[in-house]
Amino acid sequence: MTLGEIIHRFESVPSTNDTARDLVRDGAAHGTVVVADEQTRGRGTKGRSWHSPRGRGLYASFILRWEGAADPGTAFPLLPLAAGLAAAEAVLDSSGVEARLKWPNDLVHDRKKLGGILTEVVFRRGTPGYAIVGIGINVNHEAADFPDELRTVATSIRLITGRPADREDLLGRLCRALDSWYNSLIQGKRELIIRGYEGRMAFSPGTRVRVTTDRGETGGVYRGLTPEGRLLLHGSAGPGSFSFEEIQALDWE
Ligand code: BTN
Repeated sequence: MTLGEIIHRFESVPSTNDTARDLVRDGAAHGTVVVADEQTRGRGTKGRSWHSPRGRGLYASFILRWEGAADPGTAFPLLPLAAGLAAAEAVLDSSGVEARLKWPNDLVHDRKKLGGILTEVVFRRGTPGYAIVGIGINVNHEAADFPDELRTVATSIRLITGRPADREDLLGRLCRALDSWYNSLIQGKRELIIRGYEGRMAFSPGTRVRVTTDRGETGGVYRGLTPEGRLLLHGSAGPGSFSFEEIQALDWE
């Protein structure tokens, strides 16, 4: 089934990812989408919250059941990258706004956060059973819609273009783009995803990058992504790579 053929719409839910998980338990089909006008307990990565004021953002979750995947075990680490690519493409096509990707989960514009991706993979007997990809995009937020602590670090399509954007159009494009990148993923086109993601990254090879992990802060020169989607940095001790899971924060010069 194509992503978005079934869309469950809600005025307000705690989190569309949680609603999607409930729908999976009730047997929802691959490609089912959950979208809400507001989230009262929107979730970000690393246990953070995702500010989700009513009528302003796009808050959507996609149920992916790995149908037709030759090897879900190797595909799933690249799922957040495929989702990031889809979101950046949909934003550009819908609004003309150039969203760059801040590995591994963020959409940014002029270093300000425009959107984020929360990918949750549920394993069954050691292999990925299904995934829920939650995508939040700041669409029609005015500055006053952001709480004080986000106002200087977040932006929206409307703040960038100076005019309201069409959330429905954005959702439609996001469904089509994610469907296409997901198909590339399950067909094993890893190289296409890695190269596509690198091409939309917020910083280019040769940039100095600092990352925070639970072992502390470290830095190096960005060299690209590995075939597994890990961030490759050349530090003073030589080359090293980082997985999504171990990164707590990332910044670049
Ligand atoms: C992040 O940057 O920390 C990820 C944010 C992900 C937010 C989206 S909004 C739709 C879906 N439902 C949630 O509760 N979170 C994701």
